[in-house]
Amino acid sequence: MIAVVGSSNMDVVLTVERFTLPGETQKATKLEFFPGGKGSNQAMTVAKLSNIDSEIYFLTCIGNDSYGKILKEQYDNSNINGYKIVNDSNGLAFIEVTEKGENRIIIYSGANNYLTENLVKEHAGKLLKADYLLLQNEIPFESTLYSAKLFFEHGKTVIFDPAPVKGIKKEIFQFIDFLTPNEEEIKLLTEKFFGNFVSYEDSYNKFKKLGLKKLIVKLGEKGVLYFDENTTIEIPAFRVQAIDTTAAGDVFNGAFSVALHENFDIEFSLNFASAAAALSVTKKGAQSSIPSRSDVEKFLNINNEYK
Ligand code: RIB
Repeated sequence: MIAVVGSSNMDVVLTVERFTLPGETQKATKLEFFPGGKGSNQAMTVAKLSNIDSEIYFLTCIGNDSYGKILKEQYDNSNINGYKIVNDSNGLAFIEVTEKGENRIIIYSGANNYLTENLVKEHAGKLLKADYLLLQNEIPFESTLYSAKLFFEHGKTVIFDPAPVKGIKKEIFQFIDFLTPNEEEIKLLTEKFFGNFVSYEDSYNKFKKLGLKKLIVKLGEKGVLYFDENTTIEIPAFRVQAIDTTAAGDVFNGAFSVALHENFDIEFSLNFASAAAALSVTKKGAQSSIPSRSDVEKFLNINNEYK
């Protein structure tokens, strides 16, 4: 089983010609709503890509409003257990998506603030049935830290997406097997803890001293870099026409955990995750863009020859 402890949001997506400048007012060309949140996107990816039923336990807090209701329905339909409805509004993400498919996101935590360390403790028995834990940073950091420590102490694999970077404390890295920042996040994290960013490899060596085991840097259209004690692997990006990159990183993490859980080796798992993420950017929205297992497999078969 794979566990996720993290956020659920409703994404309010405004399509714009280009990012709005400071002090500028611009008209959006479209307004859309999509279920999202980094935790939720990762959990839904696992549910959609996994070959095994009851594969996922998702500890998350959703609001008692109409957005929370939509997320609840979706979790029920996807056999996802573990959500808690709280007496507050659902988490929200306000997203600008440009014509080039780039995004900018502002989140409002709402119900996500209720995912406390005590709630993780209450669910520990169910969570620990899983061998893998997916974490992000959109709930109170102390709950993420506690979850990472809990899984580490039970010999499980912890995959941490350090997004957003704000609020992360260095104690967490000793409990992390795979740290999965994007280009911007690894730079911010390195600057935050070590003063200046030199190179990805240098960052890996620095975080290794804090106890981190493996680093995966998600470089978008430049591919993926992987570092562990003995190897470095470079996975070139699949070439696709990007419509919306929102949640590509989440789809990557969810897909990576599914492949690892099915005992595929690191290189295949990275390729599988890159293919799923590449397919996700060809569609609008967060969870609306998660590909099916058969689409990922077909895509891998066709594209591996051309890479
Ligand atoms: O990673 C993408 C996600 O970030 C969006 O779905 C949004 O909800 C924010 O959490």
